[in-house]
Amino acid sequence: MSIPRILITTLTVALAMAMVATIVPQAEAARAFFVFGDSLVDSGNNNYLATTARADSPPYGIDYPTHRPTGRFSNGFNFPDIISQSMGLEPTLPYLSPELNGQRLLNGANFASAGIGILNDTGIQFANILRMFSQFQLFEQYQQRVSAIIGTDRTQQLVNDALVLITLGGNDFVNNYFLTPFAPRRRQFSLPDYCRFLVSEYRKLLMRLYDLGGRRILVTGTGPLGCVPAELAMSGSTNGECAPEPQRAAQIFNPQLFQMLQNLNRELGSDVFITANAFAMNTDLINSPQRFGLFDAANLIFLIRTSSSLLYRLQVCRSAQIYSKTT
Ligand SMILES: *[C@@H]1O[C@H](CO)[C@@H](O)[C@H](O)[C@H]1NC(C)=O
Repeated sequence: MSIPRILITTLTVALAMAMVATIVPQAEAARAFFVFGDSLVDSGNNNYLATTARADSPPYGIDYPTHRPTGRFSNGFNFPDIISQSMGLEPTLPYLSPELNGQRLLNGANFASAGIGILNDTGIQFANILRMFSQFQLFEQYQQRVSAIIGTDRTQQLVNDALVLITLGGNDFVNNYFLTPFAPRRRQFSLPDYCRFLVSEYRKLLMRLYDLGGRRILVTGTGPLGCVPAELAMSGSTNGECAPEPQRAAQIFNPQLFQMLQNLNRELGSDVFITANAFAMNTDLINSPQRFGLFDAANLIFLIRTSSSLLYRLQVCRSAQIYSKTT
């Protein structure tokens, strides 16, 4: 049996700091924030779903203010939280949370769901998760609910003015193409062809998001996929070298994605899509931790291998703690 794997938030906090510094103006007036994507940005939707892709037990959440698991795939905050903080907003609630109602809806919503990818067939091993078409359906439902409170025109305005974050693609590699040597997509496509296919499917999703009203959409690309603990374990790496094939995947996928975003912006005649190069940010952080206030590089990444019955290999990053101690 293959071990279900979830792309875990790595180096979340410093990454978010870097993103926030470049993208979100400080002291901005209240503005809604919408989040779409996978476990890197899921703030707890999967807690409400019958799926094995969940982060509702320790050590998830060990560095969160409550020191409890919240459904975030992180030791502490995830980067949507930090973007919310810098916008002066409460953390964006999972759309499936019963607490997301009334005026709170006006802050936005998080539709992300761990395990999903660009493709519908990514993460099938996790059963009941919110694939992209479901996330968009819920976004439509959200807009209807908000319209009932503030009317259609103001709802449209709220969505147009909002910041939107979408983080997708890692699972299409880690939990699909590279899942086993005989994965159907791997037999169907060479790696470069698969990347082209993913980018063309991603384009459709982004246009759908635009049609649904998104006008300021942050797209993160994928991080160093070969350094995900599950990939390290699979490649038998003993010296910490990242697995070459998934690394190559990210190196092919990201530039094509960014090119596609540029083309979309040109077609739309507006800078709707903003590129956030998560790969470069991660690499910078690992290569020069001091620049980010991280002085104990050995402590940066903890790999916890839970017992095989626990299913997940979990990467816990203590950077939040170390960061707060050193700045
Ligand atoms: C994904 O699945 C949904 C629901 O079955 C379907 O409507 C949608 O067209 C599928 N997307 C793709 C790209 O196949």
